[in-house]
Amino acid sequence: MKMELFRRRYANCREVMAQRELDCVVVFPGANMYYLTGFMEEPLERLLVAVLPRSSEPIFIVPELYEKQVGASTWITDIRAWKDDEDPSKILNEVLQSLSLVGGRIALDTKMWAKFFLMFLSVAPKAVYSDASEVIDGLRAVKSRKEIKVMEESASIADRVIKKIIDACGVGSREKEIASLIELEFRKLGIESMPFRPIVASGPNGAFPHHKPGDRRFKRGDSVVLDLGAAYKGYCSDITRTIFIERCGSKEKAVYEVVRQAQQLAFESIVEGVEARRVDRAARTHIADRGYGEKFVHRTGHGIGLDIHEAPYIWEGNTQILKTGMTFSVEPGIYLPDGFGVRIEDIVVVEGKKARRLNKVSRELTVI
Ligand code: CO
Ligand code: CO
Repeated sequence: MKMELFRRRYANCREVMAQRELDCVVVFPGANMYYLTGFMEEPLERLLVAVLPRSSEPIFIVPELYEKQVGASTWITDIRAWKDDEDPSKILNEVLQSLSLVGGRIALDTKMWAKFFLMFLSVAPKAVYSDASEVIDGLRAVKSRKEIKVMEESASIADRVIKKIIDACGVGSREKEIASLIELEFRKLGIESMPFRPIVASGPNGAFPHHKPGDRRFKRGDSVVLDLGAAYKGYCSDITRTIFIERCGSKEKAVYEVVRQAQQLAFESIVEGVEARRVDRAARTHIADRGYGEKFVHRTGHGIGLDIHEAPYIWEGNTQILKTGMTFSVEPGIYLPDGFGVRIEDIVVVEGKKARRLNKVSRELTVI
């Protein structure tokens, strides 16, 4: 049953390949490989690729030690193993020859390491290479009902963790300790992998959107940006809340309100059929109108699914049309150097004439 799902995705992929006149797609360990073949693995230094042609059966090239593992998790039956004392470019050459791809149009997974790209270049120098994300990203961006169900569960796990963490914060809490606690809480809920280290940015550290938690202890009056997420059944969560320790000054309160409203306006701007950049504009215009345009130093959001960052990206240059089933973050922020930072982030799913938030944690000003 599950194998059928992956096979169907490959059929969809073939249609896009035909439209773009591509002869094959090659995927590398990671989200793309999992999405099309069912086999999930971290990138590794041995050649492990799936060659997915448009008009013949796909072939997996794997190091011998992975042969059984790949066989057990994919619908692809043609698995060619190479031994550790062999040169993998030989088998790559055989496969590309047998599929008549040596001079073909090959779309490569751009997450593939350069050393493997160089191997392709030396084996098939006449092939025309392009970016496989042009084929796969559009398919991955629109989630099925089942995928959305898993995304909901993933988001609710992140919600539970952030609520616990907010309760654990107080004067004297150290950023690093709160970050470790986040990881611990995720593990307690059965999470194994975390696509990014949690961000815990207190007081002036909040001015760095991707601050690395350090030794700073929270003080009364601090804002604390908490940004965390994990992968559940392969699907990522990502949530940010900004809280205040014991008191919230008037400037902090005003900035918080601007971000909260910007996030709400961006959320309300989401409708299927509009360009992704409309969502960015909704948040950015509001923040700029309040005089903080220069302090909003990143895009409004990013798609999320098997990867923490994927299509569609929510920024001014993106004219991609939003479709029902797309899931992405809405996360405007304001960062005041030597002052503090505020960011609020939820994952949303496009559903026809509106969007729905997968995160349910309150966005009201929280002073603890
Ligand atoms: Co995010
Ligand atoms: Co985040």
